[in-house]
Amino acid sequence: MFAKIMSMGIRVLDGFSITVEADIAPGLPQFTIVGLPDSAVKESAERVRSAMKNTGFDFPARRITINLAPADQKKTGPVYDLPVLLSILAAMEYIKPISPDSAFLGELSLDGEVRPVNGVLSMALSAGACGIKKLYVPQENAAEAAVAENVQVFGVSDIGALVKHLKGESPIAPTRGVPFTGEAGAVYPDFADVHGQEEARRALEIAAAGGHNVLLIGPPGTGKSMLAKRLPGILPVMSREESVETTQLYSIAGCLKQNGLMTERPFRSPHHTSSASAMTGGGGGTPRPGEISLAHNGVLFLDELPEFRRDTKEALRQPLEEGLVSVTRAAGSADYPCNLTLVAAMNPCPCGYFGHPTRQCTCTPYAIERYLQKVSGPLLDRIDLHVEVLPVDYSEISSSQGGESSAAIRARVEKAREIQRRRFEGTDIHCNAQIPPKLLRTVCKCTDSAQELLKDAFAALGLSARAYDRLLKTARTIADLAGSELVDENAIGEAIQYRTLDRKYWRN
Ligand SMILES: Nc1ncnc2c1ncn2[C@@H]1O[C@H](COP(=O)(O)OP(=O)(O)OP(=O)(O)O)[C@@H](O)[C@H]1O
Ligand SMILES: [Mg+2]
Repeated sequence: MFAKIMSMGIRVLDGFSITVEADIAPGLPQFTIVGLPDSAVKESAERVRSAMKNTGFDFPARRITINLAPADQKKTGPVYDLPVLLSILAAMEYIKPISPDSAFLGELSLDGEVRPVNGVLSMALSAGACGIKKLYVPQENAAEAAVAENVQVFGVSDIGALVKHLKGESPIAPTRGVPFTGEAGAVYPDFADVHGQEEARRALEIAAAGGHNVLLIGPPGTGKSMLAKRLPGILPVMSREESVETTQLYSIAGCLKQNGLMTERPFRSPHHTSSASAMTGGGGGTPRPGEISLAHNGVLFLDELPEFRRDTKEALRQPLEEGLVSVTRAAGSADYPCNLTLVAAMNPCPCGYFGHPTRQCTCTPYAIERYLQKVSGPLLDRIDLHVEVLPVDYSEISSSQGGESSAAIRARVEKAREIQRRRFEGTDIHCNAQIPPKLLRTVCKCTDSAQELLKDAFAALGLSARAYDRLLKTARTIADLAGSELVDENAIGEAIQYRTLDRKYWRN
């Protein structure tokens, strides 16, 4: 007795089809799963056995062999519980053979309920291309799967309901995709709570408008963490495409909170004790997305930057540059996207008061230097906007009026992003920070005087070629905020000013 059921597997961000074959032969009772299964897949045998028994089917006391093909691809996780069970039911002729254009995914509980699994969105998006027309997924993943437009999705709550559906006794209604509105519902802390700090606010507005990285540096208690946490509230709404990308990564990592697309841009703030692999991705089996990929299309906030482990900080260098991180582990390698806006905050020295206008810093020059050296030149070079956050005046802090609200700032950010949306239409670039080198000169056209200013600054500040490129992109965003076609000297001037702070602190 033999039966075949289709299912889906996942390779990095793409799904591929898997055939689950069941052969039931006379002989001593035995249950074997072959075809490169990991331990979660092997354990599937026990869940399937109990789930079958507890939903009223006799578990065959025969020699059962399950093969997951193609055999050269590693199969991970409990996704195959459901197709394995169905293949046994079909082989035992409890149900009729199932057409190969239907695929099944889902973990089983011992009483036959179907539990949610990771990576459903990626599998659903690839299902059509794999010849799958009907996709059966756990009920709790149905809305997520229904984002895929070229496959019919059925949400399954338990084995009993599925068997009734397959027998035609009580059909399950297909789950329909919800139209994407792009409306974010989360309420973030508001910029109106921040008194003063005009320069830092302006820098964060530029960062939000163009997706640029920011470093906030200054003494304790001036509002650095406070400002950084308010950044998500002024970010533009995500496009459907961005939302799909980010949701895919969350789904694979098992971090997706809702059933369906994420409409909020992610804001990740890993603690400074995080390891390099927590940051870039890793895990025991196939590599999983790390913090930087979970911040894809959103913000990564590193509070107390110097306190992060050196290897964790340095591991950010290549991904920050390329917007892509390659994670290699024994079980395989994966390239995950990580186009993010980095916001880092730090004190300038161990006591925190170096550069403070009134308070005396108690650190030795050596201690200050050692502290600042924890943030390496190459990392600093990747941050477009360096901003000093100094203490606010008494008059400002005691004033009953706070600053401008997040809603007002966001309106300007949206306008600048709209210009970028039109500029990058038809490409996979979302914002100015992602402009590739080959487009840089055409997109960031400067006026003559801006060109002069740039030339002077390049020599005077000893800019690297990377810093030059990044400076141009920042200036492009500043010009977009001002609504001007060409990058003028004001935009260049302001962008330069955000690259001069390292000369005050990192003096060499
Ligand atoms: N500019 C400001 N406007 C209003 N409140 C402020 C401002 N700056 C600081 N505060 C108040 O001080 C608290 C501490 O600020 P915050 O945690 O942002 O400081 P910080 O600069 O990150 O300090 P540290 O360097 O010690 O991390 C805030 O929660 C807020 O109550
Ligand atoms: Mg802080």
